[in-house]
Amino acid sequence: MINCLRGVLRPVSRPSSWLPGAAALGALAFGAGVGGQTAPAHATAATSAATVSASSMSSRVLACTACHGKEGRATPEGYFPRIAGKPAGYLANQLLNFRDGRRSYPQMTYLIEHLTDDYLREMAEHFAAQDLPYPPPPAPQAPPAALERGRALVQQGDAARNIPACVSCHGAAMTGVNPSIPGLLGLPRDYLNSQLGAWKTGQRRAHAPDCMAGIAQQLTPDDVSAVSAWLAAQPVVAGGKPARTLPVAMPARCGGVAEVPVAAVAAPAPVIGGSR
Ligand code: HEC
Ligand code: HEC
Repeated sequence: MINCLRGVLRPVSRPSSWLPGAAALGALAFGAGVGGQTAPAHATAATSAATVSASSMSSRVLACTACHGKEGRATPEGYFPRIAGKPAGYLANQLLNFRDGRRSYPQMTYLIEHLTDDYLREMAEHFAAQDLPYPPPPAPQAPPAALERGRALVQQGDAARNIPACVSCHGAAMTGVNPSIPGLLGLPRDYLNSQLGAWKTGQRRAHAPDCMAGIAQQLTPDDVSAVSAWLAAQPVVAGGKPARTLPVAMPARCGGVAEVPVAAVAAPAPVIGGSR
């Protein structure tokens, strides 16, 4: 199924029989070709981001919904992260990160590895524009003391250990900040654990300076599981909508986040690490 759909995302200049036995997908391939890097020159020239039709976009993202759920609304129980309604710049940065090797999930990278920046940005905007309700969170999966430790790290940080409060960048409501800082709610606990772990080991990287690498390295494994357990058990407020801005400057500079002011004392902050 996914192999087949990769063809829809990666149109090649072959006759319409290139998707064996898939007449319906053959029709979708035309839509996906518009704006794709291998589309005929006349189609690309005549097509800009603004003119990608809704139907070509929904066929383009069909392959994504196999894992991310219909409309990108994954459930909190599994591993797959929800992508619907996340800040567009954040989603675009992640697609670039997967394509360019700063993040790794081979089954997904395979689908996007030859797509252009513009094509990825259009898909990011499509998912960012989805406005769908979040399900209630699953029951907490940690003892009360661990949950309290997680809450305190997220809301207050630990200055003695050079850990800034997570809310100082992810927003007081933890729903992220447009256009490039993601929210921390509505994500599965396993996914959160894995992301923080991957940052600690350098398997996940962001554009330099990679502020999250420095922060993750300050967290012990117990901190990581406390934070993930607490975050995964919180209800999503305000429809999960990213904030427009932060009330105070971010405590450290983060690559890929150009728009939010950074506190003067924080540049260069000791928590910044792993930049490349
Ligand atoms: C085979 C399953 C699969 C398919 C198909 C897939 N993804 Fe993913 N995607 C994942 C997994 C798993 C992750 C988390 C990987 C990790 O551990 O970092 C992910 C992560 C992401 C992220 C980062 C989310 C975040 O919060 O950081 C984005 C954005 C994304 N996928 C978009 C897409 C798009 C767009 C498509 C279609 C072109 C797609 N994915 C297809 C499995 C898939
Ligand atoms: C200095 C600002 C800053 C602080 C403080 C911060 N973050 Fe982040 N965080 C970011 C940015 C920016 C990203 C997006 C990185 C990227 O583009 O990949 C991010 C991404 C994440 C992600 C990935 C979300 C996803 O959907 O994959 C997680 C999880 C996360 N942060 C957790 C935390 C936790 C837990 C804390 C507190 C211990 C924290 N962050 C503190 C800036 C910050």
